[in-house]
Amino acid sequence: MICDNLTVTAQGRLIFAGRDARELLTRYGSPLYVMDEARIRHNLRLYVDTLREAFGDSAMALYASKACSFREMYRLAAAEGAGVDVVSAGEAYTAYTAGFPMDRVYFHGNNKTDEEIALAMDWGVGTFVVDGAEELAVIDAEAGRRGITQRVMLRITPGIDTHTYEAVATGQVDSKFGSAIETGQAEQLVGQCLGYPHLTLCGFHCHVGSQVFDSDTFLRSSDIMLAFIAAMRHRYGYLAAELDLGGGYGVRYREDDPVIDIPQNIRQVAAHVKAACDRLGLPLPAIRMEPGRSIVADAGMTLYTVGAVKRIPGYKNYVSVDGGMGDNPRYALYQAPYTVVCPEKMHEPADMVCDLVGKCCESGDILQPKVSLPSTLTRGDLVAVLTTGAYNYSMASNYNRNPRLPVVMVSPDGDRVVVRRESLEDLVRNDV
Ligand code: LLP
Repeated sequence: MICDNLTVTAQGRLIFAGRDARELLTRYGSPLYVMDEARIRHNLRLYVDTLREAFGDSAMALYASKACSFREMYRLAAAEGAGVDVVSAGEAYTAYTAGFPMDRVYFHGNNKTDEEIALAMDWGVGTFVVDGAEELAVIDAEAGRRGITQRVMLRITPGIDTHTYEAVATGQVDSKFGSAIETGQAEQLVGQCLGYPHLTLCGFHCHVGSQVFDSDTFLRSSDIMLAFIAAMRHRYGYLAAELDLGGGYGVRYREDDPVIDIPQNIRQVAAHVKAACDRLGLPLPAIRMEPGRSIVADAGMTLYTVGAVKRIPGYKNYVSVDGGMGDNPRYALYQAPYTVVCPEKMHEPADMVCDLVGKCCESGDILQPKVSLPSTLTRGDLVAVLTTGAYNYSMASNYNRNPRLPVVMVSPDGDRVVVRRESLEDLVRNDV
C-alpha cells in the first residue's frame, strides 16, 4: 500500500502499524487519529543521521512542529536527537512543558508578539529566527533587560518560486516571510542586527515552500544563501556559522505521487554545498533542515464511521462520516488529495464513486471528492483516510462545536492516548 506500515489481511482487513483498524476504533471511539510511533522515530532518525553523515556533527535536524504539535511529539523528537522549530508561544509552551531541551528550539514567525518574545526567553528558547527589523529591536531590548545575549538567525527570502500550491510557497521575493536579498533589505537587516549589543547573529535561514518534489530546490536555495553568506562576509566582515535550509520535502498522498529518496537528496545537497563553500572560500556552516510533513504524514491515519450513504440517481453519491473539515481542513483549503479506503472491505470492489463528506453544516465540508469505495458501504462501516499525520490534528478546529479528536499512538510496546478526546464540557470551558 501507499506506506509500508499498512497491510491487508487475507480476510480483507486493514492493519495499521500491526493493529486492526476496527479494534482501534472499538477501543478508542470514533472518529480517531492514529499515529505510528515507530514510523515517526524512523523518519526523525532518517534526518538526524543523514544530516550528520552528510554534513558532519555540527548539523542538526529540526522537526517543524507546526505539522503536528502535542507533548509526545516533542518527547519523541528529543529522544531521537532532533531540535524543533516552533512558531508560537503555544508550540513553545507545549515543548517546554514536555521537558524538551529548550536550547534546541528555534522560534519562527513573521509576527512574534512582545509577550511571546518575553515568554520564549523565560522558557530559555535557544534561537529566535527573526523575520524583520521591528522584531530585532524588541528581542534586543528584552535580552538587555535580562542581562543576557540572545542567539538569533535572520530569515532571508532567496527569491525562489518552487512548484507547489500558493498557500505554502514562501521563497519568492514578495513573500509575507523574511527579508529579500533582491531588494537589499536582507543586507540592511544584517547590518542592523550586528549593531545590537544583546544579540548574537548565528546565521541565516530560508524556507522555500512545502510539499515540494523538485529535487533541485535545496540546491538552488543553498547556492543563493551561500553567495549571500560570502557577500555579508565581504560587506561586514561577518561570517555566518549556521545555515538553515528550511523544510519542504513532499510526501505521497496517493499511489501516483512521486517518491523522493530523501537521504539521497540530502547527500546530493551536501556535495553541492561543500563544492560551493570551496568555490567561495567559506568554511562549511553548521547546517539545519526543518522537515515537518515528511516526519509525521505517513505516520498518521484517520478513522471514521459512516453515518449515511446518499445516492442521487443521475447525479452523484455522498458518503457522510462522523468527522470532516474540523479534523481535516486540507481538501477544503488546498484541494489536497488523499487516499481513502474501507478498512473492513479491503477486498471488495471499489465500485461506487462518491464524495466523502463530513458532518459540518457546509457544502464545502468535503474530505475528498470522487473517491471509489465499495457500493455495499452502509451506516456503521469504517472509512480510513490515509497519510493524515501532518497538518490535520494541528489544523483542527471546533467548527460547529464538534469536539476535537483524540490522538492514539500505536507502538510496539502498546497503544496509548497521547491527546485525549475533547468533551462537551471542554467546548464550553472558556464561555462565560
Ligand atoms: N520551516 C518553515 C519556516 C516553515 O514555514 C515550514 C512550513 C516548515 C519548515 C515545514 O515544512 P514541511 O517540511 O512540513 O513542508 N498547512 C499547510 C502546510 C503549511 C506549511 C507551512 N510551513 C498544509 O497543510 O499543506
